[in-house]
Amino acid sequence: MTTVTVRASQTYDVTIGRGLLATVGRTAAACFRGRTAAIVSDTNVAPRYLEAVADSLKGEGFRVCSFVFPAGEEHKNGSTYLNLLEFLAQEHITRADGLIALGGGVVGDLTGFAAATFLRGIPFVQLPTTLLAAVDASVGGKTAIDLRGGKNLAGAFYQPKAVLCALDPLAPLPAETFADGCAEVIKYGMIGDAGLLNTLETIDLRADPEGVTARCIAHKRDLVEQDEFDTGARQLLNLGHTIGHGAEACSGYQISHGKAVAIGMTLVPRGAVAAGLCPPEVLPRLEALLARYHLPTATDYAAADLYEKTLSDKKRAGDTLSLVVPTAWGKSVLHPLPVGQLLPWIERGLGQ
Ligand code: GLY
Repeated sequence: MTTVTVRASQTYDVTIGRGLLATVGRTAAACFRGRTAAIVSDTNVAPRYLEAVADSLKGEGFRVCSFVFPAGEEHKNGSTYLNLLEFLAQEHITRADGLIALGGGVVGDLTGFAAATFLRGIPFVQLPTTLLAAVDASVGGKTAIDLRGGKNLAGAFYQPKAVLCALDPLAPLPAETFADGCAEVIKYGMIGDAGLLNTLETIDLRADPEGVTARCIAHKRDLVEQDEFDTGARQLLNLGHTIGHGAEACSGYQISHGKAVAIGMTLVPRGAVAAGLCPPEVLPRLEALLARYHLPTATDYAAADLYEKTLSDKKRAGDTLSLVVPTAWGKSVLHPLPVGQLLPWIERGLGQ
């Protein structure tokens, strides 16, 4: 078992290890003053793990209720969010009670946003069940839902009271879902950990999920502690995301988040190589690493469509976009890019 402590506007532990689903009751008892815990989950995860989590909570004397919504990014929307708030009101949840986010990034983002806004804020615990949610989405307090205009456009910075990264649900993940998390792991390497990249080139990530997860979370902790509200260094975590979000939107959210990030992670450095900002040898090595983890390195979307969808990115300030650009193997920087230069950059990234 490994613990990483995050010291942001809330201080909390991220615990990584096996057997943690059975300990959620104890964690909730330490985090919630009240005696009701509402579990939020989706139709993929609830049939596997909800009962075990509910039993753990009941074992600590909690009244347990649960809200289960259809799985998929397309349900991380205003309608599911309002249904969840109405459910919490019907269950008479108070500020002393708390929410348990049991699932992947969609569940965590939605639950966190409900926790941030219901009664102007109630406590919540993250229980990620995918690699992607464990290494990224569950830590750092970004909560959100999607709007028709783009991904994560309504949300709040709201830290959880605790994060339990239970490794047991990661082993049976479908290969595609596991690959989504690998994209985020490779992202941490490209931001600033060449050693992690070198390791990923030789080991299978499934061989050491605890070590790799803890290493990624420690990187995220460092950036969140420097810049909780995402005005500077934390934006490095968006490597591959700015154009990746554009690719996700182009697909109507049918491309998974990890695959979209992988597309963004190769498209941006291709543009950077063409602009002389990144040595050319980084690119084939990165493409090979992504391919090793069954991730795409190209897209058929037209440059104009990607550009259009990328414009709604939250990191745009007026006419400037903060693009995360790799400048070496295991090193990336924030590169302010005038919006007028984005389309040519995407075109170069697509090899046009
Ligand atoms: N997922 C990026 C961040 O938390 O800042």
